[in-house]
Amino acid sequence: MIDEQLTQLRQEINYHLYRYHTLDDPIISDAAYDQLLQQLRELEAQHPDMVTPDSPTQRVGAEPLESFEKVTHPHPMTSLANAFDDEDVKHWVERVERQLPAGMAISDLEFVIEPKIDGLAVALTYENGLLVRGATRGNGEVGENVTANVRTIKNIPLRIPVSADSLDFPKGLEVRGEIYLPIAEFNRLNQQQLDKGDKVFANPRNAAAGSLRQLDSKTTAARPLSLFAYAIGYVDGAEVATQGEALQYLRQLGFPINPDITVTKDFGEVLNFIHRWMEGRDQLPYDADGAVIKINDIKLQQQLGIVGNSPRWAIAYKFPAREATTKLLEIKCNVGRTGQVTPYAVLEAVNIGGVTVRQATLHNFEDLAKKDIRAGDTVVIKRAGDVIPQVVKPILDLRDPDSLPYHPPTVCPDCHEPLTRFGDDVALVCINTACPAQLVRQIEYFVSRPAMNIDGCGVKISEQLVKAGLLKDAADLYTLTRKQLLGLEGFAEKKADKLLAAIESSKQHPFDKVLTGLGIREVGSAVAILIAQRTRSIEALQKATQTDLETIENIGPSIASSIVKWFSQPPNQALIEKLRRAGLNLEIALPDVKNEGALPLANLIFVITGTLPNWSREEAKAFIEQHGGKVTDTVSKKTNYLLAGEKAGSKLSKAESLGIPIIGETELKEQVGGRK
Ligand code: IVH
Repeated sequence: MIDEQLTQLRQEINYHLYRYHTLDDPIISDAAYDQLLQQLRELEAQHPDMVTPDSPTQRVGAEPLESFEKVTHPHPMTSLANAFDDEDVKHWVERVERQLPAGMAISDLEFVIEPKIDGLAVALTYENGLLVRGATRGNGEVGENVTANVRTIKNIPLRIPVSADSLDFPKGLEVRGEIYLPIAEFNRLNQQQLDKGDKVFANPRNAAAGSLRQLDSKTTAARPLSLFAYAIGYVDGAEVATQGEALQYLRQLGFPINPDITVTKDFGEVLNFIHRWMEGRDQLPYDADGAVIKINDIKLQQQLGIVGNSPRWAIAYKFPAREATTKLLEIKCNVGRTGQVTPYAVLEAVNIGGVTVRQATLHNFEDLAKKDIRAGDTVVIKRAGDVIPQVVKPILDLRDPDSLPYHPPTVCPDCHEPLTRFGDDVALVCINTACPAQLVRQIEYFVSRPAMNIDGCGVKISEQLVKAGLLKDAADLYTLTRKQLLGLEGFAEKKADKLLAAIESSKQHPFDKVLTGLGIREVGSAVAILIAQRTRSIEALQKATQTDLETIENIGPSIASSIVKWFSQPPNQALIEKLRRAGLNLEIALPDVKNEGALPLANLIFVITGTLPNWSREEAKAFIEQHGGKVTDTVSKKTNYLLAGEKAGSKLSKAESLGIPIIGETELKEQVGGRK
């Protein structure tokens, strides 16, 4: 019974993950999804022996490994021969033609053209529908067992078929595909690395490889890796005659297949396609370093066979590298939201793959020193898709003999206060809390989409408001008046009213959005949601210690310490106070009864302690349960509220130490009553 319920819940959650991450077409709200997951977590906590490897709760990472086990691939993972221009592809087709069986002509061939995703190849093994192994390519014969890491990747099915109304599963299946990091996630990850003073990744491929090859799968879980499946290694229990059918079959089982893959008989079309892709590669949300052309017919593939390490039936058309050289005119510095100062290069304008580049990141001072990049150098610039252009290296042969090494600044480029270095951190930080550059960045972040999403307050307006002295912190947005705005250049009545209305309506945004907007290091929207759900109020969060915070799933020591440090600073405490006075949501409201018919205490776990003024324990328990809540005996990180009366003992101190909100009988009645 419980077994069935668990299986059903897992299937349902995995299906919703598939709708969201593979089809990009969710059919339930995030909140409804969270509820399902919470339900599963609670059931599994009650039945820990019934946790299975295909449970979506197992996607958060397992215990760290000492090293990766070696895995011998049952069928070697070959590589591909490269083509660098149309001629190379034509020669390849001629070679194929010479090898064709008697009676077959080039006009009988079908070609499949696939983007060549720049990530790393994996082999995923499924036995009786269950994902049992994920392995890297390694040297093609022997790779590494990265199963725990692969499980954390949201669009990799843990059990197939993902959809209940889909076809049967094969007894055995090995799926091959590319694990990659979408460009937007790559940029975000590098920004986070910079914020932490950690090393940045040179490109999405390195970031994907570094993230997948983590001995601690919890680190992998925090990196939004993704898969595109492109081949079947072997299948036991299904017949596929062509590459196109193989992809279709994998798609039906629930694997993510690249939507741009095309099948054509016309070789001229093959080249047209590749050229169109090459031109449009910057619009893709992932990095593609070429196109792969494959012969569609699998029997023919087998007849053509392998030569050396590459099949004769496929070829990779490599896109030209997106690098260029130009002159570095000047090294300048930016001040970030947290005061971190980072260097960037001002360049002589250069066209790279159709885009004019005038600036490029230099990442951090350590990297800059290591590469010994100097003003006046001729440098190699690299850009790919939306990846921020970066300076790769100087060309030393072209260096002016009189050039001088670069020295990092000692004062803030904006407020001119001395810069500080923390411990052996490589980052230089401006610790002036009144630094205008930081304030502009903080406001920009506060009003941005993942945070308070205040329309009509872009980068320029944030800057204008700070420069006019109207904002000393983000909370000052809520005291802006029409008169003040009308006094600014470019502000007519309509614009001012629109901005004020957007600011006013932002007060309705939930607690986690406010928390995101505070701009605490390492607390982006995902972390903010976790913390908000767990602490439920800013008071509880302010009281939480490093240890309390570390008990929250996915919150490690670094995030926890960054939060504690943030709340310990008086200007930040003052900011919270101002935000409270402005009327922002600084706690999670109890669920609304009208909302989806949920009871007011649905999903909330209570512990009762001490002597209550009017109720016996049993009466209190009945009241809570009647309104949808649950009562448990022990205070744990899962407890949402402690209902406490007189002479409360150890449970009270435990709840306090975990930062769990403590309420009395009256408060509970009011909360429930007020929402009827
Ligand atoms: S097919 C025998 N298809 O490119 C065929 N590979 O240089 C083996 N890759 O190791 C690979 N996208 O990591 C294939 N659509 C695609 C691909 C692809 C990226 C990578 C893969 C492979 C490397 C070959």
